[in-house]
Amino acid sequence: MWEEFEPLIDHRGLASGRDRFRPQSAKTLGVPSFSFAETDFKIPRHMQRAFRRLIDRGFCGYTVADDPTYLQAIVSWMKKRRNWEVQQEWIIPVYGVLRTMSMALRAFSRPGEGVIIFSPGYTAYEGLIEENGRSLVRCPLRIGLNRFLIDWDDLEKKMSVPQNTMLFLCNAHNPTMHVWPQEDLRRIAVLSQKYNVAVIVDETFADLCFPESPMTNYGAIAYGQPHCMIINALSKAFNITGLNTANAILPDEQMRRRFMEVFRAEQRGSGSIEPFAREALLSGYSDEGFAWLQRLFAYVKENFTLTEQFFAEQMPQVKIYHYDCAYLIWTDWRALGLSEAELEHFLMEEAVFCVDMGYKYGPEGQGFARIHLGTSHANVQAGLQRLEQAARRRGWISTEGARTK
Ligand SMILES: Cc1ncc(COP(=O)(O)O)c(C=O)c1O
Repeated sequence: MWEEFEPLIDHRGLASGRDRFRPQSAKTLGVPSFSFAETDFKIPRHMQRAFRRLIDRGFCGYTVADDPTYLQAIVSWMKKRRNWEVQQEWIIPVYGVLRTMSMALRAFSRPGEGVIIFSPGYTAYEGLIEENGRSLVRCPLRIGLNRFLIDWDDLEKKMSVPQNTMLFLCNAHNPTMHVWPQEDLRRIAVLSQKYNVAVIVDETFADLCFPESPMTNYGAIAYGQPHCMIINALSKAFNITGLNTANAILPDEQMRRRFMEVFRAEQRGSGSIEPFAREALLSGYSDEGFAWLQRLFAYVKENFTLTEQFFAEQMPQVKIYHYDCAYLIWTDWRALGLSEAELEHFLMEEAVFCVDMGYKYGPEGQGFARIHLGTSHANVQAGLQRLEQAARRRGWISTEGARTK
């Protein structure tokens, strides 16, 4: 039934980051990790066929970045899947999301200025901001009943500081994997106009929103010309992270012109879309690509259900908040009362349940862990079993399965 997703990729001998960066305990035991944002699933078969056709033609040359077929595929996808009317001239094919955010820093801010992020936030932002000589301004999220919420007073205070000229907005938000409500986006846009803060929206996970949690849309906000740049990528949804490809969408002409100055300084002319990245986009942003994603959601949802059931029934000390998006899940371990080092030791060494530790996402991530569920049902079952055994040894689960702590 699941032959598209099983067997998983055999990562051996490919210099695969997902394999290489497994914690040592996982390598020793010969098990996969539940860390790293890249699934274990092979790319869709229709995309493999598109790559093969390209190989058969023997072409791997420069392409033009203003290819109407490529641009139209993005326009159609955004219209059909996101109800967002994008114009072809707003789109600039770029080389990866982080590299583009780095160029955005140079285009729309000056050295020493502050860049706001919501915290816990994606680990790479901190380095990117600081290595570009800007300063990181964390805006801690508030924890609501079941959701992470923006502290609007704190955000406005930080956006009103003239020194803070940029906001990195991750939608869907890594690591909590929630989508910002459209009303939040509208409020951010209002503040962005009021205080002249450029908003750089990282939509890397946009295509992974579960059907019941549709993606929201900063670019579609009817508030004058949005002072923003939106970056989309197929990398996480279709597991093509190694192609280092993305698309920047800049609805505002002035912003576009400024970004192009920095972009042109980086390379010859207006760039080239790598032929494999072009094929990947044409096959991903298609009806077949959409249908494949629906099947992926069905497959991965079982992993979410297994994990949620495990924690609800065996370890209710661990809390899971509302999420909208595959294939990562943000979990709260604070009720166990462990120090950060103790929690890490328990997960990595005792349970060999190797997750991404929450503290890597900022001080607000302490006591949390991000679990990667983009793998087989069998891997998730085996991982949860190791976790259960380790928790039993600690006395956190009684033999009857009831909580003892
Ligand atoms: C939110 C987010 N943005 C960007 C990236 C990296 O994108 P790229 O490899 O295109 O630079 C990641 C990778 O994990 C991510 O989680």
